[in-house]
Amino acid sequence: MRSLTTIIMAAGQSTRLKSQKSKVLHPVCGVPMLQYSLDLAKSLSSSKSLLIVGHGKEQIEELYQNEATVHFVFQKQRLGTAHAVKIACEQSSNLKGDVLILSGDVPLLRKESLKQFLKIFRKTQADLSVMSTIMAYPYSYGRILRNQDAQITGIVEEKNASEAQKLINEVNTGIYLVKGELLLSLLKQVKKNPVKGEYYLTDIIALALQAKHRVQAHILSDESEVLGANTRAKLAHINQIMRARIVSRWLKLGVGMEDPARTYIDASVKLSEDVFLEAGVHLIGKTKIGRNSYLEQGVRIKDAKIGEGVLIKAHSYLEDCELKNKVEAGPMARIRPGSILEEQSKIGNFVELKKTHMGKGAKAGHLSYLGDAKIGAHVNVGAGNITCNYDGKNKFKTVVGEGTFLGSDVQLVAPVKIGKSAYVGAGTTVTKDVPAYSLAVSRVPQRNIKDWVKRKKV
Ligand code: UD1
Ligand code: CA
Repeated sequence: MRSLTTIIMAAGQSTRLKSQKSKVLHPVCGVPMLQYSLDLAKSLSSSKSLLIVGHGKEQIEELYQNEATVHFVFQKQRLGTAHAVKIACEQSSNLKGDVLILSGDVPLLRKESLKQFLKIFRKTQADLSVMSTIMAYPYSYGRILRNQDAQITGIVEEKNASEAQKLINEVNTGIYLVKGELLLSLLKQVKKNPVKGEYYLTDIIALALQAKHRVQAHILSDESEVLGANTRAKLAHINQIMRARIVSRWLKLGVGMEDPARTYIDASVKLSEDVFLEAGVHLIGKTKIGRNSYLEQGVRIKDAKIGEGVLIKAHSYLEDCELKNKVEAGPMARIRPGSILEEQSKIGNFVELKKTHMGKGAKAGHLSYLGDAKIGAHVNVGAGNITCNYDGKNKFKTVVGEGTFLGSDVQLVAPVKIGKSAYVGAGTTVTKDVPAYSLAVSRVPQRNIKDWVKRKKV
């Protein structure tokens, strides 16, 4: 089979997005838009992707410099789409096989649609094919021109179109397949367009026809697949469509949801059967959730690994942490990076963990801050426990041995170690290590002053 090379155009400026960030790096369901084009190329077994960068070049290169199949092409001056593709051709001298030309800003294009496009292109042995679609409102797009036999004869840009041509609903999606051997010679013949002062890639259609090459226009049935993210409103709309696709895919794969339209799952998230998500759940980044886990409303989880049978109650906020099987957290728990909760451990409302390891079956039920701590198995952390892990300069560790009972309102001034099966009385400020099986109390003895209130009132 012929090889496939992909050229992705991403040199444009995102003027209408009013952003410092390159347009193609704006996320769609958590993933940079450009990633979708690169993934499409991979799914068609394209051997390499020539990525045309200009505006925002550094940001894009930084993100993709380690991708073996990505080759950067720098377009210094933005002289039009034909100019961009020409530079790419020249840089990778003697392009052979088939060439797919894509834009970096069409994240909704489906791989099935592209596969079909390639299949027909190869089957009919075409030399050049453009993907078109029918739009109810074709304004601003290039229009596909056809003769009486419905054969494509060219593409006319909005700016160059006659009033009659402007009524045409079939538009150019900006996606093309072309034989590599042909591409550069066609591009060399493209002349600068006098109206816009740019070299139009669309001119290669008429040029190929003049040279008696086989040219086609392949109609994409779902126009929403080629929505471009030119404005913030369109970007938000694209995100909505992608989100609906992700959600419906997980529903099919056995994930239950209370309200799919209000469930937010990044493209990079992995779920399992019988996970249930109540409304308003946000699952972000590399989050993974195991079977039978239940997330109540408003839970937000980023880059976390959640085991099986985990219950996360409403409005909890988790980042870069791991919850093993049958853990319970929340409502309103905050679990910060580097925390690990072993099986059947439990944290309750208003408990914050940072870089803390909760041993198997350990519990912290209410209103606590545990930072840089190693809490042993089956430890009971009473209400209002605080690790004082920071002296203004450095962070220190707290270690609590297995089976120890920490009473309410205990401060653990780190670095400090408490042995196993110890007891710490309520209100204690622990400043020294506590040996195993000992009781630590640091309370001031209570005094009751008789009639103090009556005397004060006088
Ligand atoms: C282009 C097509 C138009 C089509 C539309 C679909 C041309 C002349 N017209 O128009 O027929 O309907 O796309 O969206 O091709 N780019 C570069 N370097 C350049 C110019 C553009 O990399 O010098 C990139 C842009 O970043 C973008 C893509 O090429 O990703 C398309 O460019 P754009 O200026 O948006 O073309 P349109 O005017 O929309
Ligand atoms: Ca465009």
